[in-house]
Amino acid sequence: MKLLVTGGAGFIGSAVVRQALADGHEVVNLDALTYAACLENLAPVAGHPGYAFVKADIRDQAVLETVFAEHAPDAVMHLAAESHVDRSIDGPGAFIETNVLGTYALLQAARGYWQDKGRPESFRFHHISTDEVFGSLGPEGKFTETTPYDPRSPYSASKASSDHLVRAWHETYGLPVLLTNCSNNYGPYHFPEKLIPVVILNALAGRPIPVYGAGENVRDWLYVEDHAAALLLVMQKGRVGRSYNIGGENEARNIDLVRMICALLDEMKPADRPYSSLISFVADRPGHDLRYAIDPTRIREELGWRPSVTLEEGLRRTVRWYLDNEAWWRPLLGREGVGVRMGCFLENTSVKGN
Ligand SMILES: NC(=O)c1ccc[n+]([C@@H]2O[C@H](COP(=O)([O-])OP(=O)(O)OC[C@H]3O[C@@H](n4cnc5c(N)ncnc54)[C@H](O)[C@@H]3O)[C@@H](O)[C@H]2O)c1
Repeated sequence: MKLLVTGGAGFIGSAVVRQALADGHEVVNLDALTYAACLENLAPVAGHPGYAFVKADIRDQAVLETVFAEHAPDAVMHLAAESHVDRSIDGPGAFIETNVLGTYALLQAARGYWQDKGRPESFRFHHISTDEVFGSLGPEGKFTETTPYDPRSPYSASKASSDHLVRAWHETYGLPVLLTNCSNNYGPYHFPEKLIPVVILNALAGRPIPVYGAGENVRDWLYVEDHAAALLLVMQKGRVGRSYNIGGENEARNIDLVRMICALLDEMKPADRPYSSLISFVADRPGHDLRYAIDPTRIREELGWRPSVTLEEGLRRTVRWYLDNEAWWRPLLGREGVGVRMGCFLENTSVKGN
């Protein structure tokens, strides 16, 4: 199939592009190359004959229409987004612009293209979303596909809005859509502002390892390559109009996750004291959801997907990858906002222009 992947220069999008090409698909990667993008993530496939890159913004419907006309994709996999919760607290505007208005522009361009082609049943618009749209769980229970939406951060609210738009374009115009809501990803090429790379890179630099609040927040971690495999499966075999929750069934409290990473570093790159001595508890994120957990029964029973990697094994591979790939991460530490604590929300913060 020929896939139009948006956000293919990001963390998860690049894993999807690499895996799709390896599976024999053609890929057109459309990305605006924001601060979070890294074309280096695609170095392994840059010369692949089935790969094309278009630098474009999903908010620009006219450009999107040209891309659809020129490349004639069989399916869209929509990953482009502003994705960092802490940044969404300081500057929600970019999240509304890209995640809501950008998804709207993409839906309109996709719909026009699909209608012009005679509304083929085989076309797919696959929207990639997050479990954060469901809000926060207590100690028990898991998110299913029918859990009511209850987003609590600007990021999750913008993703929830985009999910609603995608469903509406299916119900109203018949666009053949698919949705997936996934838990926290980790793995190689993870941008160094997210928790796991922050822990690894601060530890290696001998700097304090920040843990928000008491580190009690629980996340359900999924290795990024397992997510990419699930997305490609849903895109090809998922039932139109349906959503699928994707999770690794690997729940961990943040503090336990950080200790696991420190122990792996102690083993793989011993220092003169245990890395866990660098752990430093810092002020919590406002509105920090306590627990996310995914019930992946639907994708397992309908499509036969299950994660291939345990959290322990995935973390081991990830730590090894960061130790071996300093040339990838070192330049990113100089990008705007990286290494700066964001999302603390001071009462007197200006809201002008955000
Ligand atoms: N990271 C996670 O743990 C996670 C979990 C579940 C779902 N998701 C969803 O998966 C998707 C990808 O997440 P990620 O972690 O790879 O994000 P990322 O921040 O690493 O990458 C986002 C990519 O989108 C591009 N982009 C941003 N705004 C754009 C615009 N206006 N036009 C075109 N391109 C634009 C960026 O340049 C970047 O390459 C997002 O939709 C996110 O909500 C992420």
